[in-house]
Amino acid sequence: MEKKTDIVMSGIRPTGFLHLGNYFGAVRNYVRMQDAYTCYFMVADLHALTTLNETRELRTHVRRVMAENIACGLDPDKVAFYCQSHVPETAELYLFFNMIAYKGELEKTPTFKDKVRLQPNNVNMGLLTYPVLQAADILLHRATLVPVGKDQEQHLEIARDYAQRFNQRYGRDVFPEPYAFNFGEALAKVPSLDGAGKMSKSENQMATLYLADSDDAIRKKISKAKTDSGGEPGAPMPDSVANLFQLLRLVAPEDMIAKFAADYEAGTIRYGDMKKELAEGMVRFIAPIRERATDIQNDDVYLRRVMEQGAAKARASAKVTIELAKDAIGLNYI
Ligand code: TRP
Repeated sequence: MEKKTDIVMSGIRPTGFLHLGNYFGAVRNYVRMQDAYTCYFMVADLHALTTLNETRELRTHVRRVMAENIACGLDPDKVAFYCQSHVPETAELYLFFNMIAYKGELEKTPTFKDKVRLQPNNVNMGLLTYPVLQAADILLHRATLVPVGKDQEQHLEIARDYAQRFNQRYGRDVFPEPYAFNFGEALAKVPSLDGAGKMSKSENQMATLYLADSDDAIRKKISKAKTDSGGEPGAPMPDSVANLFQLLRLVAPEDMIAKFAADYEAGTIRYGDMKKELAEGMVRFIAPIRERATDIQNDDVYLRRVMEQGAAKARASAKVTIELAKDAIGLNYI
């Protein structure tokens, strides 16, 4: 397929296990974009250092998040899939951006203020300059499309400011302005199983389906999901039931959804049956991903090749940008 000219870049934090909210909210979009655009997807291991004291688990987290993304369909042959720390040009651009990053602005960033509240004894400069590093990640490839959620909007605004500021200060159009991107349709919402909020926001492990969950764990979580015993006929559908339907829509065939919807209307719905079908649908969806992810995580040779190949592609793109930036700054004496 002929690729569009816009460059896509996004970063994935190597913390925790991927869950269904990550899949339908993010990874599925990466997979859709990989055929249409030149894509750079990066595991943000350096960003992780801003909050980690203990780094012994980092290796496992990085390898797991890579394996899970690949198991979901991200193809390292189609995109550059790399680790941030394997591309030292990131740090070089970060240094240049530090010269146009104002301390006062960074101190006002809501994500920084949140972190200060969460770890008052470790307010390190990495936390303060987190958005500077993120701007470097994106602009290193002169990317314009950044598939991220709403929570990253402020960071993208900062990246746009630095692109403009750099171009203006050094008098050359080196950097384009990056914008958040998702296929123009609302991202699929994945409600949590406890009837409260989205799965991505949930801190309750029992209310979240992880791509690493065993078949039994999936069945158990769904069997315990909240349902209402149903109010008056014709009353609005309770949230907990609407959530179950929403989840069913992600993994069940149309006719099954229609059957339960009709049962609900008629007041004859049996939530036990519905949950059973939902659980089997989720098992059919998650099990192959989980198995592929485990195989990949155990394949050292393959993962090494993915990381090396990703870093090589990312560095080739980074090298061009760094040359343009240095030239614009005037760091070109030989
Ligand atoms: N800050 C992002 C997050 O918390 C992760 C990230 C790091 C990122 N670098 C990026 C996202 C570059 C988009 C582009 O999820």
